[in-house]
Amino acid sequence: MNQAPSILPTSLKDFGVNCHEIKVGGMPISQIEKLVGSTPYYAYDRQLIINRVAQLTKALPKQIAIHYAVKANPYPSLVQLMANQVSGFDVASKKEMLLAMQTGMPVNKISFTGPGKTTEDIGAAIVAGVTLHVESAGEISKIERVAKQLKVKANIAIRVNPQFELKSSGMKMSGGAKPFGIDEEQVPKILKTLPLAQVNLRGFHIFTGSQNLNADAITCAQQQTFALAEHLVTLATQVTKVKIEYLNIGGGFGVPYFTHEQPLTISTIADNLQALLKQYKTLVDGVEIIIELGRYLVAEAGIYVCKIIDKKVSRGTNYLVCDGGLHHHLANSGNFGQVIRKNYPLTIGNKLNASETEQVNIVGPLCTPLDILADKIRLPKADLDDYVVIFQSGAYGASASPKDFLSQPQLSEILL
Ligand SMILES: Cc1ncc(COP(=O)(O)O)c(C=O)c1O
Repeated sequence: MNQAPSILPTSLKDFGVNCHEIKVGGMPISQIEKLVGSTPYYAYDRQLIINRVAQLTKALPKQIAIHYAVKANPYPSLVQLMANQVSGFDVASKKEMLLAMQTGMPVNKISFTGPGKTTEDIGAAIVAGVTLHVESAGEISKIERVAKQLKVKANIAIRVNPQFELKSSGMKMSGGAKPFGIDEEQVPKILKTLPLAQVNLRGFHIFTGSQNLNADAITCAQQQTFALAEHLVTLATQVTKVKIEYLNIGGGFGVPYFTHEQPLTISTIADNLQALLKQYKTLVDGVEIIIELGRYLVAEAGIYVCKIIDKKVSRGTNYLVCDGGLHHHLANSGNFGQVIRKNYPLTIGNKLNASETEQVNIVGPLCTPLDILADKIRLPKADLDDYVVIFQSGAYGASASPKDFLSQPQLSEILL
C-alpha cells in the first residue's frame, strides 16, 4: 500500500499556489484550462526551466557546454526557449533536427544520435551540417555513400559503447552488448578505415545512461569516460592526423520521481568535472566538452492536468475516473520502463488545503487495467470536475505516449 505523501516537498513551492490552486507561470490551473480550451493538458513553467539551466550553468565548470536532448520534450515553444538557455541540441530524428535548426541554434551545435538512421536522415544531416553521432560500421558506409552522392563532407563524431557502465542508472546504455554506439574495442579498426575524403571526424560521443540520482556513480563514469577519451583521441590523432575538437561525455542526470528518491547532488559532479578538466588539461585544451541532458532540465517544470469525470466504489475501493490517462502520460502509468509501478507525485490541484482526505485509486478513461494514474494514494477528498495534477511531467510525457490509442480526444500543451 502506498501511504507516502502524494506531493514532493518542493513541487508546490516551485509552482506557486493561488486560492488552493496550483499555478504554472503565475496562472491557476482552472484559468489555464480556459486558455487551452479543455483538460487534459500539459503545462510547462518557463521560469522554472530558465532557473534550472541557470543554476546548472553556474555550478558546472565554464568549459562544460550544456546541450539539451530534444527527445525529453520536443514541444516547439519549449525547444525555442531552450535555444537561448543552452549551448546546443542533441536530436533523435530528422523532425527534431528541423525543429532544432529553426530555433536559430547554429548547426555546428546540433548533434544527431540514434541507431537506425535512414539514408534520408543522413542526407538531411549532411546538407544541414549537423554532427552525426555514428552508431555502427554500417552507418559509416551509409554516410560515405550519401556524402559522395551529395559531394558534401559529413561531420561525424563516433559514438562509443564503452566497456564500463553507468552504475545505479534507471536506463543503462553502455557496457556489454548494446545497440548504441560502436564497441570501444572496435574503434581502432574503425579509425583506420574511416573514409576521410567523405567525413570530417570531429570527435567522440560517450553516453552511458539516463535517470541516475547517484552522484558518485556519475562521477565514477565520468572518470572512466575521460580516461577512455584520452586513449581514443590519442589514437585518432595518430591514425587520422585530424585534430579532435569535440568530446560529448553524455549526461544521465536524473530527477526524483518517487518518495524514496533524493535529488542529485550537483556539487559532487561539478567538483569532479573541475578536477578532471585539470587532470586531462592536454586532452581538453581547445576541445568542446559537452554534457547532454534531457529530463534534468525540464521534467520538474511540467505538470499534467486532467479532470475527474466519475467517482465510484467497487467492493470497498474508491475510484476516481479521469478524462486523461496512459494515452497521454505513459510514463506515469508505469509502462515506460518501470519494473514495479510506483505513483508519481500528484495531488488534487484545486484543493490544496482541504482537510478531509480519502484513499483512492485514480484511473483514466481507457478500457484497460493498465490505465492507472495512481494506486492506493491518500489525497484531499475529491469531487467531479476537480483536477488531478501529476508532477515531474515535463519530460517523456506527451511525446512519449500513445496519443491515438483508443482514439481518445487529443491533449493540449502550453508553455507559460
Ligand atoms: C543519446 C541520448 N542522449 C540523451 C538522452 C536523454 O536522457 P535524459 O533525458 O535522461 O537526460 C538519452 C536518453 O535516452 C539518450 O539516449
